Amino acid sequence: MTDEYKNRRTFAIISHPDAGKTTLTEKLLFASGAIRLAGEVKAKGERRRARSDWLAIEQKRGISVTTSAMTFEHDGIVFNLLDTPGHEDFSEDTYRTLTAVDSAIMVIDAAKGIEPQTRKLFEVCRLRDIPIITFVNKVDREGRDPFEVIDEVASELALDVCPKVWPVGLGGQFKACYDMDENRLLMPGEDDESGHFGRVEQLDGVDHAKLDALVGEKMAAEAREQMELAREGYSPFDVEAFRDGSLTPVYFGSALKEFSVAELLRDIGKYSPPPGKQKAGDDMIAPDDKAVSGFIFKVQANMDPNHRDRIAFMRMCSGKFKRGMKLKVSRTGKALAVNAPIFFMAQDRQLAEEAVAGDIVGIPNHGALGVGDTLSTKDGLQYSGLPDFAPEIIRRVRLDDPMKSKQMKRAMIALAEEGASQVFTPRLGADFYVGVVGTLQLDVIEARLIAEYGVKATLERCGYETVRWIAGVDDDVNDFVSKNQGAVADDRYGSPVLLARSQWEAGYAEEKNPKLKFLKTRERV
Ligand code: G4P
Repeated sequence: MTDEYKNRRTFAIISHPDAGKTTLTEKLLFASGAIRLAGEVKAKGERRRARSDWLAIEQKRGISVTTSAMTFEHDGIVFNLLDTPGHEDFSEDTYRTLTAVDSAIMVIDAAKGIEPQTRKLFEVCRLRDIPIITFVNKVDREGRDPFEVIDEVASELALDVCPKVWPVGLGGQFKACYDMDENRLLMPGEDDESGHFGRVEQLDGVDHAKLDALVGEKMAAEAREQMELAREGYSPFDVEAFRDGSLTPVYFGSALKEFSVAELLRDIGKYSPPPGKQKAGDDMIAPDDKAVSGFIFKVQANMDPNHRDRIAFMRMCSGKFKRGMKLKVSRTGKALAVNAPIFFMAQDRQLAEEAVAGDIVGIPNHGALGVGDTLSTKDGLQYSGLPDFAPEIIRRVRLDDPMKSKQMKRAMIALAEEGASQVFTPRLGADFYVGVVGTLQLDVIEARLIAEYGVKATLERCGYETVRWIAGVDDDVNDFVSKNQGAVADDRYGSPVLLARSQWEAGYAEEKNPKLKFLKTRERV
């Protein structure tokens, strides 16, 4: 059986907006040689300005399709980088993408530390014990003390930390980065006034006199002292602890000025895990299992508004896929001939002739595939671990033409199947609710209802802020539901949820009903 999967590294970058995810993506591609000129994944400032305009959404989708997954090769390793949309287009997709990766890079702005969106995404990684590499970005700008940033990672995220690349000076004082593993000093290029990385000096160790000559005695002394403290104060690197998600290596650097990017790429290749076993019900499927299998973690619909085409993104989990193979869709039991599978390379698309575990394959289809579907040559295989997350924005769907309520419900369910929104039917009352985790989705839903389904609806505020899935012994759940009919709805699988007006209210329900659990995520079966 093939062991090609062992050189796959499938990962995502998680961060709060503006921490530098796009810049780092671009520089990783650049460092790998996948793109020749920096500046090619840009075009983003414009996108950001015109975000809520429908046309812009379409355009953006065009762009985000090619950036949803990007494959590139470097030093014999195939890297599959998945995008986790982060601005107003933060959505369930962002979370769900993290079920398809084997590791993640967490980008933190050196001046800001851990911000809310980083934390949310980190928590999703933790649900699956995904190994995290921390990149503390923007060391060329005034930032916080490096110890303060690392301590925040350690205490707020409850992780062991191990610095790998340390900054020599910060902001106006920034001189270089020091690769603590290999004793290399990463310095600006000699003739480059903009201070971009360009020169590597190999040292014998931090005590090497060359360090004084290169960065000045004062800075060298300070850097030595800091690195000694860091070595003593934090955990030594342990690849097992990293891979089980309890330790994060930390790289100080600058995406913009390209410091520590090559080191980051090198270490993703060296330490991040290749594809491992995936849970499917009670079984664990190994990447070298003979059966070809994978699951759909994202569906990108209507890339061309004139055709109802969709691309389903499949994460391969086992076996060796060959173009033209027939794979069975677990949910429907139907076989699908995968004749035109696509690999998304950094700059173009290619027909995917073969794929192994860890690879991301785009499958064009007309609605046959939904998020969470398992495709396999083996009967009855269904991957687990694609949870629904409690939405953070709930709206009541008010239909302009009440005669169209059936169509509306069908449309909403179809949209929910793509995985970017959820639909809830209240136990009392006729309206239903839609839940999303990012505001842009609301515009997208309204616009798509009209464009694709001919239904005009308004998504109006309803006083609810989130939901919790109600779990417990059947009798207890039923008892709670019957006493709280007004605040209970069913999700599209018929599971009851509590509609909560605030996070506080959700917590209060939990306190008052100790026999029940009020869950923020729901594992689908
Ligand atoms: P995001 O995808 O995480 O939202 O962040 P993005 O890469 O777009 O970066 C946000 C801003 O931070 C950009 O500036 C970018 O140039 C800057 N930036 C990223 N990495 C570094 C770094 O290492 N050092 C410094 N000094 N700045 C960095 P902008 O002015 O908002 O955008 P733009 O007009 O330059 O594109």
